[in-house]
Amino acid sequence: MNAGETVGGPEFGEGGRPRPTIVRGEGASLWDAEGRRYVDLGATHGVGNLGASPPPVVRAIQEQAARLIHLGSGYASPVRTEFLQKLLGLLPPSFGRVFLSNSGTESIEAAIKIARSATGRPKIVAAMRGFHGRTLGALSATWRRELREPFEPLVPEFAHVPFNDAGALEKAVDDRTALLLLEPVQGEGGVHVADEAYLRAARAAADRSGALLGFDEVQTGLGRTGRLFAFERWGVVPDLLALSKSLAGGMPVGATVTTAEVESRFRGSHHSTFGGNPLACAAGIAALDFVVREHLPERAERLGRLAFDRFRSLPPERVREVRGLGMMIGLELREKVAPVLASLEARGFLAIPAGSTVLRLLPPLVIDEADWARGIEAVAEAVAHG
Ligand SMILES: Cc1ncc(COP(=O)(O)O)c(C=O)c1O
Repeated sequence: MNAGETVGGPEFGEGGRPRPTIVRGEGASLWDAEGRRYVDLGATHGVGNLGASPPPVVRAIQEQAARLIHLGSGYASPVRTEFLQKLLGLLPPSFGRVFLSNSGTESIEAAIKIARSATGRPKIVAAMRGFHGRTLGALSATWRRELREPFEPLVPEFAHVPFNDAGALEKAVDDRTALLLLEPVQGEGGVHVADEAYLRAARAAADRSGALLGFDEVQTGLGRTGRLFAFERWGVVPDLLALSKSLAGGMPVGATVTTAEVESRFRGSHHSTFGGNPLACAAGIAALDFVVREHLPERAERLGRLAFDRFRSLPPERVREVRGLGMMIGLELREKVAPVLASLEARGFLAIPAGSTVLRLLPPLVIDEADWARGIEAVAEAVAHG
């Protein structure tokens, strides 16, 4: 850990390997302190769908900062209203309410609290291998034992069922269940895509039992999977939707979207001092406009296909499986991923793991096509030859 670094150190230490010091970014390029350029195939952990410092977002932040940096949620704010209307305008009409916060984990905390309060029930059903964040409620829904154990006891009444197992889910969701919480594509857990039948079973189980269905689209949202929201691919609409990461083009933001009907049953209060602040909302407006104007979901679908075509021809003695959707891609290796990441970094490409054997690619959706083609080849070579 560097002097002054936060408790726990970097998110993925990869065995303590020293990481480059990054000082500047543009599009999919990041530069280190010595001026070396890297192509970022991880979009700084899925935040940079629009690239690093996207110019329209930078302009919006600068203009808003000069006008008003902070405003408490007790005051009406035109920039917040515009952001919320823009976001809701991109979602199915059943959604009508948004709670704004500052991170993915907070968007999940809000979903848990809304579901418990609106249903008057205690139980949360989540999936094995799922990742929902690290504050205590979200961590209770997260699966990985090593993330949970040091902080136990966690919040009671959380159950985990195998992902993509409709039978197990139907058994677990009962009349004590407030929320069934799923990622349509599990990210941190290894890039596992939900089956359509599984998501339909999830919707049916929630409807049958009176539980709410929540989708965590913190990582899959805003074009990443080749649709603006991953659930659009299957047409299974949740009652609660958690968004964050690229929603404001790199500014911290979290959003928990729900219906007016769910909100009408909510009792109690939930609040965040910085949630919905003008800077994040101005950035969010610019980011949503950018995603729509540049057709980033379609671009993710098209460029992602190039990678799947190439990776599916990799030697099966090196790659167990290639999974994903759009530009959310996981290569399950037959060995540890850390040396492959180090080899990619030496070639000037930054990628991220998902567990110890999955190489995960979440490139900025704006990545230059030549950089993407070179990145795909670099990954293929690093995987095949080390
Ligand atoms: C699916 C999912 N949910 C929640 C989170 C937590 O987000 P944050 O780190 O912003 O709290 C993440 C972070 O990677 C995530 O991938």
